[in-house]
Amino acid sequence: MTTQESFLIEGGHSLHGSVRCSGAKNSILPLVAAAIAVRDTVTFQNVPDISDLQSLLTLIQAMGVKVVSFKDAELVLDTRGPIATRVENTNGYSLRGTQTLVGALLAREHRAMLPSLGGCNIGARPIDLHIKGLRAMGTQFEWREGYLVGQAPALKACDVYLDFPSVGATENLLLAASLAEGTTRIFNAAQEPEVYDLISFLNKAGARIVPVFPFGFRIEGVNELHGASHSIIGDRIEASTLMVATAITQGETKISGVDARHVWSVIAKLRETGAVVEVEGDDTVTVKGVPDYRSTDIRTLTFPGYPTDAQPQMTAYLTLAHGNSVVVESIFENRFGAILELERMGAHIKVADETAIIEGVDSLNSAIVQAKDLRGGSALVLAGLAAHGTTTVKSIYHIDRGYEALETKLAQLGGHVTRVNQMEA
Ligand code: EPZ
Repeated sequence: MTTQESFLIEGGHSLHGSVRCSGAKNSILPLVAAAIAVRDTVTFQNVPDISDLQSLLTLIQAMGVKVVSFKDAELVLDTRGPIATRVENTNGYSLRGTQTLVGALLAREHRAMLPSLGGCNIGARPIDLHIKGLRAMGTQFEWREGYLVGQAPALKACDVYLDFPSVGATENLLLAASLAEGTTRIFNAAQEPEVYDLISFLNKAGARIVPVFPFGFRIEGVNELHGASHSIIGDRIEASTLMVATAITQGETKISGVDARHVWSVIAKLRETGAVVEVEGDDTVTVKGVPDYRSTDIRTLTFPGYPTDAQPQMTAYLTLAHGNSVVVESIFENRFGAILELERMGAHIKVADETAIIEGVDSLNSAIVQAKDLRGGSALVLAGLAAHGTTTVKSIYHIDRGYEALETKLAQLGGHVTRVNQMEA
């Protein structure tokens, strides 16, 4: 018998009102790794209390990092003490969020040992680009008893070309190059806002990183970094999720705490379906959903293209659009995990390789569905908000990895979402 938490979602209630997004999950994870490279006391504000962060903090505390405090969205870390270079996967935590520990440990200790980082429910998640770039900077890698061991007696600056603008590989190279000797240039670097958030913190800590149009970044290595305080950017994917939640329930909401420039592709796509979306100031987006909204087509791309992390949510929304929509998931090879569950709620979707053809239906029906990954889980919540009846979304630990109290935010907007313990036989 296992106890799993589920969301009970009573559909048919439009979302109304205002809500503020939490800080970005995909900023705080690499920033915590960056704190290790800094070897000082660092303070982060606007930090989301999510389980991916809690798991990472548990892991780095076991390595010697002191979590001085984490309250009211402020996290203070002290990384001055000795730090182990071997990362133990003590609690089965999906280690993808720790990938940037490699670059941070190599920069600080010239050595890193991590269990395999690849593999998760949305794809193979290889790290060949991380290894290729760090090798070019003088790191020797070998697999030893299932651990990837990286050693870099002296990281040397060089020109690195990324065959794909990988977010994690870019972040690892930025971390390693910050303390390497000489000037490194990263070509075809990822341009996601969270990469720039990491750069903003590193430069406050004494790094010398500049964006170089049109190819990427130039990093002038320094001897050491020092402590700094940094307020992280709002979570553009949480904001996108709340925007789509408003549209699918034909509600009207004001979503603050996100840089509107980080969600322009989502704004554009919602507008194409007929939703009314406006930007207020720098950090607020208003959304007004419309009944009988139109279909549209989505192709996920690297930033500033449509984000893969908001693809499942938009797919759920398009199941109720008038007409057919085509969704192409070009970033991950297995990110249609929620579609089977959406079909059980009455959606009409055909999937062939990286393409989903969605034939809009008039309504969805409640069902007991299972979250299988973080963003697919959030898509099922959105479908439940629009479905007739009460939907149960099980295994919401997937959702808690990247959303801080999603049910509280939705309830604040009038959504009927409650968290329940589901005793399972
Ligand atoms: C980051 O993952 C995010 N995670 C992901 O968010 C996000 O989906 C992804 O970037 C793309 O935007 C964090 O920042 C913690 P990638 P990352 O390296 O760095 C392939 C979420 O839901 N690739 O840009 O792992 C890879 O397989 C999560 O919040 C290689 O082939 O993404 C994928 O197909 C999910 N070799 C593509 O590139 C490599 O060495 C994008 O991966 C590295 C990546």
